[in-house]
Amino acid sequence: MQLLSLTVLLSLISSTVSCGGHGIRARDVQKFDPLPASAAGLPLNSDGYFVESLGHGTYMITDGIYNSMFLISTEGVVVVDMPPTTGHRLFWAVGNLTHQPITHLQADPRRPVPHVTFDTAYTLRVGNQTLELDYKGEAHMAGNIFMFAPAAKVLMVVDIVFPDWTPFSELGQAQNVYEYIKAHDLILAYDFKYYIGGHLGRAGNRTDVLVNKEYVGDLFTNCVAAINLTTTNDPVLGAAALLGPVFASNPGNYWAAFSVYIEATTSWCANKTNEKWEHRLAATDVYQYDNAAVVIQSLRVDYGILGPFGTS
Ligand SMILES: *[C@@H]1O[C@H](CO)[C@@H](O)[C@H](O)[C@H]1NC(C)=O
Ligand SMILES: *[C@@H]1O[C@H](CO)[C@@H](O)[C@H](O)[C@H]1NC(C)=O
Ligand SMILES: *[C@@H]1O[C@H](CO)[C@@H](O)[C@H](O)[C@H]1NC(C)=O
Ligand SMILES: *[C@@H]1O[C@H](CO)[C@@H](O)[C@H](O)[C@H]1NC(C)=O
Ligand SMILES: *[C@@H]1O[C@H](CO)[C@@H](O)[C@H](O)[C@H]1NC(C)=O
Repeated sequence: MQLLSLTVLLSLISSTVSCGGHGIRARDVQKFDPLPASAAGLPLNSDGYFVESLGHGTYMITDGIYNSMFLISTEGVVVVDMPPTTGHRLFWAVGNLTHQPITHLQADPRRPVPHVTFDTAYTLRVGNQTLELDYKGEAHMAGNIFMFAPAAKVLMVVDIVFPDWTPFSELGQAQNVYEYIKAHDLILAYDFKYYIGGHLGRAGNRTDVLVNKEYVGDLFTNCVAAINLTTTNDPVLGAAALLGPVFASNPGNYWAAFSVYIEATTSWCANKTNEKWEHRLAATDVYQYDNAAVVIQSLRVDYGILGPFGTS
């Protein structure tokens, strides 16, 4: 996922202010729910980063927004990603721990062209370190790989679970909701102790993955329940109550009907999900609607759950 860097974000805010309050200003002042204490993340040093040893020469580095890992071996350092906001701090982190040079970079397609590529599985061995790379299908997006350091039992899979936090908008911008949900079981099949999700505060563990699996399961069930209600006489979501007035005011305007239907089912699903999850995960009020929206669309398109627009 591409998060705006802080510098870009700050310059956007200042340009918004200087051009007289258009654009994102209204959202800037919106007051969201306070964050639970658990979401505070790890304490960054005065240079804006934190390095955590996960054992056996495996380390997590975070700048608060992005996190990544690196492995110190007897023959060089393997860096798994170069997050844009972390930048040179990654070199500082490595430089403060070892005199070994960075010899391997396992990175994403935005970075320098790799010397080695693979289709489904590759085991990288550097000195005493091993990193198992597996491509198991889309998960979050095409090319998203599972990276496992077996000695320290650290698994890195980006943009599926955000420990303590609601997933980023639209389930971390998942391109395929089915694959996103399935990714939780693929993760849990590993014997891992630490999970690095690529974003926010800290490394997670099995509990964090199970919590997110329960969350996305609830979101899914609630969105199905919302669509189910549209086929009943429910006074809010029932098709007659929901769509009757739209067609009465806008004869023949199917887009208007769809828009109202998607908005109402999404809103109901988000509200229902918040009843249980608000304050359990951080920022549910920020992204619950967007997360419900991508599930409602997927239920229609991928799962064929069509509510009043199906043939029963
Ligand atoms: C590999 O070697 C590094 C550097 O000596 C050491 O810190 C690390 O614990 C070792 N890791 C494993 C898996 O043997
Ligand atoms: C160690 O980290 C600090 C910043 O935290 C940096 O200024 C310094 O250059 C680093 N040392 C090495 C050898 O990279
Ligand atoms: C996972 O991490 C959380 C937060 O640090 C902690 O409360 C929980 O006990 C951990 N669970 C396991 C299985 O280690
Ligand atoms: C939705 O409706 C289907 C078909 O009647 C039913 O099998 C399913 O259990 C319902 N799901 C929910 C969450 O209401
Ligand atoms: C969801 O909650 C919001 C805020 O309380 C409310 O305005 C909205 O009508 C609710 N949506 C549904 C479909 O009940």
